[in-house]
Amino acid sequence: MRTTKSFAETREVGNGVVGLVPTMGFLHEGHLSLIEAARAETDTVVMSLFVNPLQFDRDDDFARYPRDLERDVALATAAGADVVFVPDLEEMYPDEQLTRVNVIGVSDELEGPRRPGHFEGVATVVAKLFAGIQPQRSYFGRKDAQQLAVIRRMARDLSMPVDVIGVPIVRESDGLALSSRNIFLSDDEREAALQLSRGLLRAADLVEAGERDAKAITNAVYFEIGDDLSVEYVSLADQDRASPVTALDRPAFLALAAWSGETRLIDNVHFDRGEGGYVGDRGIRLADRSVLYGTGEG
Ligand code: PAJ
Repeated sequence: MRTTKSFAETREVGNGVVGLVPTMGFLHEGHLSLIEAARAETDTVVMSLFVNPLQFDRDDDFARYPRDLERDVALATAAGADVVFVPDLEEMYPDEQLTRVNVIGVSDELEGPRRPGHFEGVATVVAKLFAGIQPQRSYFGRKDAQQLAVIRRMARDLSMPVDVIGVPIVRESDGLALSSRNIFLSDDEREAALQLSRGLLRAADLVEAGERDAKAITNAVYFEIGDDLSVEYVSLADQDRASPVTALDRPAFLALAAWSGETRLIDNVHFDRGEGGYVGDRGIRLADRSVLYGTGEG
């Protein structure tokens, strides 16, 4: 395993088919599953680790984003990464970033209006990673459904020679979608947060029983949610455009955002065409406690 700090050095150490896994660090099994997917399909697995200031709409969120480089390098190595690329601000943004990538249409709904500038920041930094590292394949979690749609569309619209691959959501053993932000939840907030995945799973059952009406599908989520959570939205959206649909008549995802205490959480279920109709991607569940919470020894 090698740690690199510059784009040039990262390109040099890449051999054969290069698979890129972009992250902001504080790794958990969701990130590690992206590394494993890349490991299975490429020759050189590069994980990038950069907390990108351009994509944070709130300064406090950027300031308190968890960081632990030593821990991340150890976890990425164990999961099979060949290279961990850790650019500093100077390498990523040597000058004022005047060029921005905006994927119009895909960024306008759901998270878009609630996090002004967020997808522009994401698309811009990922475009830089694609240009600077030149991977043939790049791996993104379905956890961030709209981000995945934005990156896919960006690569297509800008003729970037990268295959963008979406990987299922990894969940904790009780269903909570893994997020680096989960470490901020108190026991009560965490308990409340479980209503989100429960609601999504109930909706997936309903879809698989034949329901196609967006209102009925989103209502199934609200059915599980009490007033100890503050919901921003629950929406059934087109997988390609990340825009709301009134009926499940194409590949879609049922996405939500909610606050548990001071922590904002997002989660979703993707609905893909299966043999007997639409199938909900319920993700993967950990058998044990997540690496997020340490070994329990300190
Ligand atoms: P970050 O939040 O660190 O996530 C890195 C990647 O891990 C993303 O593709 C995200 O969708 C995926 N991921 C996070 N939690 C997951 C889970 N529970 N299951 C599966 N995959 C999961 O997303 C970003 O960073 C940034 O926006 C980035 C793309 C790196 C650009 O700065």
